[in-house]
Amino acid sequence: MIDPAATLPAPLDSSVMISVEGLQKSIRNGPRTVNILKGLDFSVPRGQFVAIMGSSGSGKSTLLGLLAGLDTPSAGEVRLNGTAISYLPEDKLAQVRGKTIGFVFQSYQLIPTLTALENVLLPHELNAEAKDQKAGLTRARELLSSVGLGDRMDHYPVQLSGGEQQRVALARAFILRPPIVLADEPTGNLDSTNGAHVLELLLNLNRVEGTTLVLVTHDPLLADYADRRIVLRDGVIISDELNPNPAAEPRQTTVVGQ
Ligand SMILES: Nc1ncnc2c1ncn2[C@@H]1O[C@H](COP(=O)(O)OP(=O)(O)OP(=O)(O)O)[C@@H](O)[C@H]1O
Ligand SMILES: [Mg+2]
Repeated sequence: MIDPAATLPAPLDSSVMISVEGLQKSIRNGPRTVNILKGLDFSVPRGQFVAIMGSSGSGKSTLLGLLAGLDTPSAGEVRLNGTAISYLPEDKLAQVRGKTIGFVFQSYQLIPTLTALENVLLPHELNAEAKDQKAGLTRARELLSSVGLGDRMDHYPVQLSGGEQQRVALARAFILRPPIVLADEPTGNLDSTNGAHVLELLLNLNRVEGTTLVLVTHDPLLADYADRRIVLRDGVIISDELNPNPAAEPRQTTVVGQ
């Protein structure tokens, strides 16, 4: 049997963290085929902060799901840090995903039977390489405190508001210090204070730790902090521009940069 890992291409260019080539997604809806993404091409260098924008239904969440390998394209390819992921078998894909990506869903996707702390710790527990239980617990607690949930760690998702669940989902995405964080509307349900908290956390992650960050957002203020803005309309990129003057540096926090 051919080992799929042996057929993986060698990393192309270590400075490109995400590469998207001819990416298409179509879905059959009864007799109709809906073309959700119609052939996207772009690459994201290491450490870049990209805001994906566009009106509702333009394909942003679909794109993010494909970048994360949570969905399979109809055509084209996604490479993460040089590894082509789109057609990998699930076990290989899970390995690459676990090592490379922190994902924040638009709908949070917390496990209802686990507390906030347990939800944040879960990727750590599932990661065979992350053996240090105590360090994981410490980081999970610090992350929850840094998103303003220090006093909610033992609460279950049903006991938390939408915005609180969103912050738990963010903390969970950061626990393994992934080189790429993908987040779908991470400040969408937050008031301005908590939105600022989350923004600060994301910016620290990007600018202090060098995490490559791809955020879907409707918020032009949040996009002002991004290095680059990609705008989708009806499944195509209608603009892809570098931001010559990203908004100010975040304050230093003690948590993410540790
Ligand atoms: N499973 C599906 N079956 C049929 N159509 C789908 C499916 N998933 C997404 N779509 C359609 O694809 C388009 C893009 O959806 P997507 O969720 O990517 O949009 P979005 O840009 O994230 O929107 P929003 O800003 O509202 O979150 C929409 O028109 C949506 O209805
Ligand atoms: Mg969406």
